[in-house]
Amino acid sequence: MPELKDTQEAVYVYGPWIRIWHWVQMFAILALGITGYLIGSPPESLSGEAYDHYQMGYIRYIHFVAAYALIIGFIVRIWRAVVGNRHSREIFAPPLWRKSFWVEVWHEIKWYAMIVKEPKKYVGHNPLALLAMFFLYVLPTVFLIFTGLALYGEGTGMGSWQYDWFSSWIIPLMGQSQDVHTWHHMAMWVLVCFVITHVYVAVREDIMSRQSIISSMISGWRQFKDDRPAEDEIK
Ligand code: HEM
Ligand code: HEM
Repeated sequence: MPELKDTQEAVYVYGPWIRIWHWVQMFAILALGITGYLIGSPPESLSGEAYDHYQMGYIRYIHFVAAYALIIGFIVRIWRAVVGNRHSREIFAPPLWRKSFWVEVWHEIKWYAMIVKEPKKYVGHNPLALLAMFFLYVLPTVFLIFTGLALYGEGTGMGSWQYDWFSSWIIPLMGQSQDVHTWHHMAMWVLVCFVITHVYVAVREDIMSRQSIISSMISGWRQFKDDRPAEDEIK
């Protein structure tokens, strides 16, 4: 990948793996959120034999299929963070130790609150987005994967990799199975808050910011709406 220049009209930011991962995990999380909610608050029981309707069976089946899609997608995403361009590492390592990063975060808060009128220009994610992606997406997703596999290991039982690698230490660490359910459930709501905000902001920034947003996650290219230099971009 060539060195990025501030005055370039378009920069290739998101490679195909990241784009495919993003949209696959969007569908996976949608399915996990709906089925997870229904596992926690099940619909009324149906009369007749369970095998005639298999209601909870299908709900749990979809949850587990989507869970494996999420896990495989996340492993692919980590691989891309290791071998991909510098933007592919951004969400895993926000530069929290840098004062300039927090100054930029404060500016973005004011921009989102419509206090400042001039948006800055970013090739990668803006610092506030980065902060939200790390604390409200990356960490909760890792937590959901770990606690989810711990719950899953209860079904597959002792001797299975899910039990040995996850259930065996996560369940005692949290207390008992019901505690893991509760924490797993609460992490879902963190992710729901992230997704609602993320979609609002993606649409808002697509309209109001100085660069392309939604189309960048489809084509991979970031285009700029003006040719003023991106002196504000975090290096
Ligand atoms: C975005 C990710 C995920 C969300 C939003 C989510 C959500 C939920 C929710 C809300 C519950 C119900 C908890 C309760 O109230 O008892 C649940 C249960 C469960 N989840 Fe997830 N989950 C996710 C990822 C995973 C993953 C990666 C696995 C791994 C296999 C997993 C496995 C399970 C299992 C085994 C249960 C318990 C099912 C049962 O007791 O019948 N989940 N999930
Ligand atoms: C479950 C739903 C979703 C989750 C968990 C999610 C998560 C994420 C994450 C983690 C990133 C950072 C990508 C990276 O650098 O690796 C991202 C970027 C992005 N997402 Fe989503 N997303 C979801 C749904 C959506 C939807 C529905 C849209 C469209 C409206 C969208 C639009 C975008 C865009 C445009 C970017 C790139 C932002 C930028 O270039 O700064 N996302 N998303």
